[in-house]
Amino acid sequence: MCGIVGYVGKRDCADVLLDGLSRLEYRGYDSAGIAVFENDEIKVAKSKGRLADLAEKMRREGKPQGCAGIGHTRWATHGEPSDRNSHPHSGSRVTLVHNGIIENYKRLKDFLLSVGRTFASDTDTEVVAQLIDYYYEENHGNPVDAIVKAMKELEGSYALGVIFADFPDMVYALRKESPLIVGIGEDESFIASDVTAILQYTRNYYLLEPGEIAVLTRRGAKVYDLHYQQIEKELKTADWDVSAAEKGGYPHFMIKEIHEQPTAVKTTITPRITDGMPDLSECGITPEKLAAFRRIHVVACGTAMHAGMVGKYVIEKLAKVEVNVDIASEFRYREPLVGEGDLVIIISQSGETADSLAALRLAKELGAKTLAIVNAKGSSIAREADMLIYTHAGPEIAVASTKAYMVQIAVMYLFAFELALAKGAIDEAECRRLTALLQETPAQIEAILEQKDHAAQIANTLITADSLLYIGRGLDYALSMEGSLKLKEISYIHSESYAAGELKHGTISLITENMPVIAVATQQKLFDKTISNIKEVKARGAKVVLVSRDSYVPEKDVADFKFGLPDFEDLLMPMLAVVPLQLIAYYTAVLKGTDVDKPRNLAKSVTVE
Ligand code: M6R
Repeated sequence: MCGIVGYVGKRDCADVLLDGLSRLEYRGYDSAGIAVFENDEIKVAKSKGRLADLAEKMRREGKPQGCAGIGHTRWATHGEPSDRNSHPHSGSRVTLVHNGIIENYKRLKDFLLSVGRTFASDTDTEVVAQLIDYYYEENHGNPVDAIVKAMKELEGSYALGVIFADFPDMVYALRKESPLIVGIGEDESFIASDVTAILQYTRNYYLLEPGEIAVLTRRGAKVYDLHYQQIEKELKTADWDVSAAEKGGYPHFMIKEIHEQPTAVKTTITPRITDGMPDLSECGITPEKLAAFRRIHVVACGTAMHAGMVGKYVIEKLAKVEVNVDIASEFRYREPLVGEGDLVIIISQSGETADSLAALRLAKELGAKTLAIVNAKGSSIAREADMLIYTHAGPEIAVASTKAYMVQIAVMYLFAFELALAKGAIDEAECRRLTALLQETPAQIEAILEQKDHAAQIANTLITADSLLYIGRGLDYALSMEGSLKLKEISYIHSESYAAGELKHGTISLITENMPVIAVATQQKLFDKTISNIKEVKARGAKVVLVSRDSYVPEKDVADFKFGLPDFEDLLMPMLAVVPLQLIAYYTAVLKGTDVDKPRNLAKSVTVE
């Protein structure tokens, strides 16, 4: 959701900005723009549409030439996607790019209009540019002072890259809520919404904190507080290299990331297993702490919330602790019954999802302990939670989450095993057995990936459908939710997930030969019941795709297509069964010719509520 890149150095700035922005494309956007100092003057180029449209426009009209500037990909909030609403936006001496939302922009705009300022766009961002410009004029040209004064007025979330016409070859950066990092190279410095944008130039960076202002020059960056006191920052080194953020020969990031799942699981669980037992002590989680929790709430959005659904089934079954799963945007506004003795688990790939972050803060206010399961290092959710388990999936670029989900559920298993042991609900031998099985999942996933052509064949039978149903019971139902989201978000085919036993209470009336059903049936205890539900939809004409165990050979009237899975522990089947669901969604989207990695209207990191 909006990407920011800034650069000061010796390279062709426009090229660096475009390259960096292309690596942030996954965040989702509908217009783009750059501003570059050309012979000490700020030159702006911007365009509605993709970066290719901006590049084409610059080919026609001339590319700004210079070695310092800022760039942006915009995901529209205030004002339609258009050239005039694209960033950068300017006052008379100030030009900036912005990620986030200024909540009090209307009041500020009224003030600025009242002092004679005029506006060229419908955005909240232009208000920020004019406000900084107003203070800059008022204080006769002190950039940091103007920024600090504006910051005191701004409400909402923002990451800003700012340049001043009077200070060529300098870039200013600041943030509140929305993420921003400052990259340090040799004789060059950068700002970026995340480190993937600059990995090919440097892996060294500072995490900018709210209330800090970075001043970048070719010689590096200095960071100040609101009183203009310099702050000593810890230089971090990204442990991802540039290949982690490239397609590596795959046609899309999504299929690359699906294939990375076995490694991601291994990298995530291995450091958390000691002598065959789960060990989350490095994450601040001890058996004593676990034993004290009386109730758990898992709060997250989208795919991360679906990982929480799997966690609920597993924790309740193994540890006998009540688990509520909440959508973060609902949790934060419904006065949840959460308090001391409760553990609130926030799951987030990006660690910056606005609703999940707000839910975390609310949980802390209410006196609960919080645990974050997060992929992005140093993100806001990671920093604010009481306890933290990083998933080690590496950068996930495709908007549709796959490997992040896989490692989120892997962590939920480890957590559930350790919790169950701490609560005395399972004994050490059982905990050891389950942990060993979890360690086997990467090899199982590898084997399933070898059947990807079969998933493509199944996908080929789905592309003409307007709508699909995913059904399952128990853990298979939790998984169906994720399968359905995956399909609809990238193929644009409508789909819903249903608890198979709930169909007869209304939804079965939708079933016709034009409504394919993807049935997940891996749970042995519920198997016969799910098969009965499948027969009911089959009898009403539905084409059925069955995702089930190899050992089950369907009768003639059960399934039109089957994707087989190895026989494995019921409890761990979601780690295997999600793979065909991801593959079917992927190939359906490919066959339909959609923009698989960057589906329309979607952003990877949803930093506004
Ligand atoms: O970064 P987060 O995990 O907090 O993001 C939450 C959702 O926006 C995300 O899981 C979304 O549903 C997926 N990208 C869908 O594939």
